[in-house]
Amino acid sequence: MKVTSKLDFDEDFSSICESTAALTEGCRLPVRMHKTDDWPLAEIVSIKDSEGKRQFYVHYVDFNKRLDEWVEEEDLDTRKVQFPRRDGTTTGASTGVTTPKKHHSLAGTGSVSRPASPVPLNNEIVNGNAVLAAALQKKINRKRKLTPQAVPVVEIPEENSQDGLTPRQSGSMVIHQDDVVTRMKNVEMIELGRNRIKPWYFSPYPQELCQTPCIYICEFCLKYRKSRKCLERHLIKCNLRHPPGNEIYRKHTISFFEIDGRKNKVYAQNLCLLAKLFLDHKTLYYDTDPFLFYVMTEFDSRGFHIVGYFSKEKESTEDYNVACILTMPPYQRKGYGKLLIEFSYELSKFEGKTGSPEKPLSDLGLLSYRSYWAQTILEIFIAQKPSGESEKPHITINDICEGTSIKKEDVISTLQNLNLINYYKGQYIVCISREIIDQHKKAMDNRKIRIDSKCLHWTPKDWSKRSKWYK
Ligand code: ACO
Ligand code: ZN
Repeated sequence: MKVTSKLDFDEDFSSICESTAALTEGCRLPVRMHKTDDWPLAEIVSIKDSEGKRQFYVHYVDFNKRLDEWVEEEDLDTRKVQFPRRDGTTTGASTGVTTPKKHHSLAGTGSVSRPASPVPLNNEIVNGNAVLAAALQKKINRKRKLTPQAVPVVEIPEENSQDGLTPRQSGSMVIHQDDVVTRMKNVEMIELGRNRIKPWYFSPYPQELCQTPCIYICEFCLKYRKSRKCLERHLIKCNLRHPPGNEIYRKHTISFFEIDGRKNKVYAQNLCLLAKLFLDHKTLYYDTDPFLFYVMTEFDSRGFHIVGYFSKEKESTEDYNVACILTMPPYQRKGYGKLLIEFSYELSKFEGKTGSPEKPLSDLGLLSYRSYWAQTILEIFIAQKPSGESEKPHITINDICEGTSIKKEDVISTLQNLNLINYYKGQYIVCISREIIDQHKKAMDNRKIRIDSKCLHWTPKDWSKRSKWYK
């Protein structure tokens, strides 16, 4: 926005930017968030000229990166700009989430008021309550410093070059988190089966495809095409109606397929490419050989449609039972995430081990795991019977770990988060109020789909006895 009348300036003259021409990458200022009347502090990541108009790619400082977006000049509040310093910090007024005062006249239009009250984000931006999740992210970030997490993939092999697209030249690829390119969403839209989905984060799809308005993905083999026509041609040849690998679980319409990242490399790589669109802080791409992929599908007359997946290292020195986990956005917030998590612990039970998800967890990952752990542990407590008359039920942390396959640290952190542990007369006791029990029962009634261990047909493999995952 251009401020045209000096008389209309705020007293705080020094931080006012005369025009957006002075704005550079790294500047911070209040920006109107898409489809809201909120003006949180944002950082300019990139600037481009499009059809004679300047556009700005911004990251909202206190919000998850999936809300990053391109905005126009009129979405910028240039009255409080912080310019980047050489040392990486910014100068000027520090705002935080701002409540802009009355905005002064723009080209003689009179004053424009910008309400400050938060407006819930439209579901198109992210599936679910973005504001809640973003606030949670802020809380998590304050508590812990994020470290990069590894995601298996990629190194697109020659045979995976599709529609004559150039295969990647590099070997296993490292994505630098601070790289401006990988900080920005590069895929506008994907079409997967009957769903059109707006990606959340960067994923290294071939450049040629990223320049198209939509990438068309075969929902069964996950190969990608640049147009619907090309996908239709592919579908004539592609006879897959379910993921490759073994179907190890089926109950009603839900199935799980186990895919070996070494045996089905192209599928595994395409799955990781797709997943990366919705997974952040995954910086390294590895070979898929050391991973197994568990793809959950829903069956109908057209086939087995991918709902979500998790990957798992064949051997984990840190007892991780999940590397990456994802529910495809159209299926999110319906309980499938918890079903994936429940399945991952069911596998650990079959292995006779406890396990934990790879760290760090995303904001949504943490929400889902905390909720799963809390419900699973409360189920155990509520099912406890007194061991004798006038005796209180007695259970150890190890009993809980054994019964649930949840790792000890996660059991303890859950009990602490729920504020259930009390120290009384020299011993730890857990007190569960009637209110918590009622809330829990209500939540469990909502968990309609559950894993039925009788429907899992699977024997764990001891990968340490195999030479480098090759058998
Ligand atoms: N806002 C608020 N709460 C949410 C949201 C949201 N957007 N999404 C899920 N939740 C809560 C739910 O309310 C539910 O808790 P409750 O039962 O106590 O109410 C809990 O999280 C799980 O909900 P589900 O419907 O079972 O989970 P969903 O199918 O949405 O999947 C998942 C959760 C897998 C984390 C999904 O959000 C996702 O794929 N996110 C993107 C990828 C990601 O962040 N994965 C985790 C990374 S960490 C790792 O990979 C180890
Ligand atoms: Zn296909």
